[in-house]
Amino acid sequence: MPHATAGGPGRIHGDGSVTAHAPAKINVHLAVGPLRADGFHELITVYLAVSLLDSVTAWPDDGLSLTVTGEGAGGDVPTDSRNLVWQAAELLARHAGVRADAALHIDKSIPAAAGLAGGSADAAAALVALDALWGTRCTRGDLAGLAARLGSDVPFSLVGGVALGTGRGEQLSPSLSRRRTDWVLGVAGTGLSTPTVYRELDRLRAAGRFAADAGAGQPDDVLTALRDGPDATLAGFLANDLQAPALELRPDLRAGLAAMSGAGALGALVSGSGPTVAGLVEDADAAAGTADALVAAGAFRLVHAVHGPVPGARLAG
Ligand code: C5P
Repeated sequence: MPHATAGGPGRIHGDGSVTAHAPAKINVHLAVGPLRADGFHELITVYLAVSLLDSVTAWPDDGLSLTVTGEGAGGDVPTDSRNLVWQAAELLARHAGVRADAALHIDKSIPAAAGLAGGSADAAAALVALDALWGTRCTRGDLAGLAARLGSDVPFSLVGGVALGTGRGEQLSPSLSRRRTDWVLGVAGTGLSTPTVYRELDRLRAAGRFAADAGAGQPDDVLTALRDGPDATLAGFLANDLQAPALELRPDLRAGLAAMSGAGALGALVSGSGPTVAGLVEDADAAAGTADALVAAGAFRLVHAVHGPVPGARLAG
């Protein structure tokens, strides 16, 4: 019996399971402000959801269990309460006053600890899938509130598209920008820890090596260029205050940025806290060409040609 759900019309499969997808994100612009008393940094960012998706499937069961296949399975991605999907299930169950009963499976394409909000995508997909499975009938607003408690990027993983993020990233102003942009993602062999990169930024600032006024500045130009183009203009406005600390921790990323530009990208930056390098290209053909060149050069562990904007977490058809 299908349930109405915030993720769209309910789609419960013959075996009783529900699947939801959620996208990776790129921070096309990320300006990091001061460290707050709660340990987070005030920031202004332009999020773009791109066409690299994880899926979360939920089945009826007694108690919670979690399995993972794909990127990071058996390694970086935990299958217990350390996983944001597990935490999402417990949070939604508490909020709705139901038992946290589900067998959960994550099929990952988004690399872990890569600056692409893979864990946040999984948490957002879990909220949407479990809302349908449990028939908890949350509104999008309910889910957004739960998402913000799970992590700074989870609300954006829920809405997708293009959005301006403020606060610690969880306060969103969705943009109507729908112009397609094409990107190539170059994923490094090992990940970077987000708190470590923020701490390195604080260290660089305290040492006077990264002046507050030398940062990414206001995102207005990037939002306008995302909406109206041309891509060559957008390329000039790409900016990320976490790039300097990511490069300090991982000097090898300089070669990644150079390889991206050398393979034809109009502009390149580290996505979020890295280490993924995102390169803006003209169109899908250019993305395929740049991706092929990067694979041939062996510049990254993984290369993906993607485009944005794409929708946030939603039930699979
Ligand atoms: O919100 P999330 O759990 O993804 O954040 C992970 C860590 O990244 C935080 O504990 C904090 O160290 C750092 N962070 C930050 N400022 C933000 C977002 C994250 O310092 N706006």
